[in-house]
Parts: sequence; structure tokens; C-alpha cells
Amino acid sequence: MLQFSTLITNWYRLNARDLPWRSTDNPYFIWLSEIILQQTRVEQGLSYYHKFIEHYPTVDQLANAPQDEVLNLWQGLGYYSRARNLQFAAQTIVANFESVFPANYEDILSLKGVGEYTAAAIGSFAYDLPHAVVDGNVYRLLSRYLNITEAIDTTAGKKVFKKVATELLDELNPAEHNQAIMEMGALVCTPKNLKCEICPLRSSCLGLEMRMIDELPKKSKKIKI
Ligand code: ADE
Repeated sequence: MLQFSTLITNWYRLNARDLPWRSTDNPYFIWLSEIILQQTRVEQGLSYYHKFIEHYPTVDQLANAPQDEVLNLWQGLGYYSRARNLQFAAQTIVANFESVFPANYEDILSLKGVGEYTAAAIGSFAYDLPHAVVDGNVYRLLSRYLNITEAIDTTAGKKVFKKVATELLDELNPAEHNQAIMEMGALVCTPKNLKCEICPLRSSCLGLEMRMIDELPKKSKKIKI
């Protein structure tokens, strides 16, 4: 649906944070940013991003670095297997893709530590591949905008959101569309203190109309014993 994409991308052009990984189409840099941002918030992620691209300006340099050094740079982010996977994937790119970051979705997805969200993010931001990102921000925003009461943490629910996100994607402008929907989730359609009064989607937001915003997104009620 183009109206949705037009509304969020117009908002994005005026309100987006100026973040370094948004002004590059270097897939390697974008990949680094996405892996770092899985571990931390944007404000803290920035220094790690700069550190990594300074130490390892190319995927070859990351692939060939001593593992200790990579883990040291990762220090503070936690979950060291992410850093090990990062270097392993860099070595895969050197060995299997002639040191060129793969440019199609399936190859990107095949890299260790890269799931559907990250593959869609890298693919769209770096190569304009028409894949919709679906992360926590997107679940929240879409559940509210379309008043989707399906749980976001079930296989069936995830499928619903993936389908809807894909239908809404502007395939001619996937990079900006994806950045915009995530930025809306981060700055406007937030978990708490949401800013419906400034939201560009407010006049067509079903959740708002149905007074369901505070109930969404839904999670399954399974209680862990
Ligand atoms: N979180 C994950 N990816 C992001 C991006 N590209 N910009 C801002 N926050 C993000």
C-alpha cells in the first residue's frame, strides 16, 4: 500500500536521526551496524560501529584479524558468540564469495549469525532488495496500525506480520521504507509514552480508532514453569 509508505517516508525525511550506517551503501558496514544493534541501543552502538570500521575497514581485514582482538573490541556488548559469528561470516565471504559481500537475499541469509531480519535489512539498505524488515519495532507499529491481535511470539503470528509487512513494502523504495518503519517504531510508536499526536499515520490507525493501542502488540500467554 503506497499511502502507508508515502506517509512514513515523508515523515522519515524530516525527522530521522542522522546515523552513519544510513549514509553508506557499503554492505559490510551495514552488516556490522546491524549485528552491533542487535546487542545494544543506537547511542551505545555508535562508538562500537566507529571502532570496528576503523580497525577493520574491509571484510578481509575482519576475516584476518586475531580472534582475541575482535573479542576485545566487542567487549561491553556481551554475548561473544555474536562477535565470533561475525568473524566467521567474514571468513566465509572471503572464502566463498571472493571477498565481495553477497548481493542476493539467500546468500546473505546463509551467513552465520544473519537471520531473516538482518538479511532483509542488509539486502534493502545496501542493494535495494525488496525485502521487508520485521523486527520488534515493526511488530509494534503494524499491530497497532492494523489492530492485529495475533500474538507476535508464535509461528502463526510471525507469519501474519511478515505477510502484512511485505504487502505494505514499497518495492521501489525498500531501503527508505524499511528505515522509516523502524524509525517510526523507535521514535513515535514506542512501547511507552507513545506520540500519537505527532504520528503521520494517526488518521488511518485502526488501533488508535479502536482504543487498542495500550493492548498491542499481543504476546501469547504461555507461562514458563
Ligand atoms: N536498529 C536496527 N537497525 C537500525 C538502523 N538501521 N537504524 C537505527 N536503528 C536500528
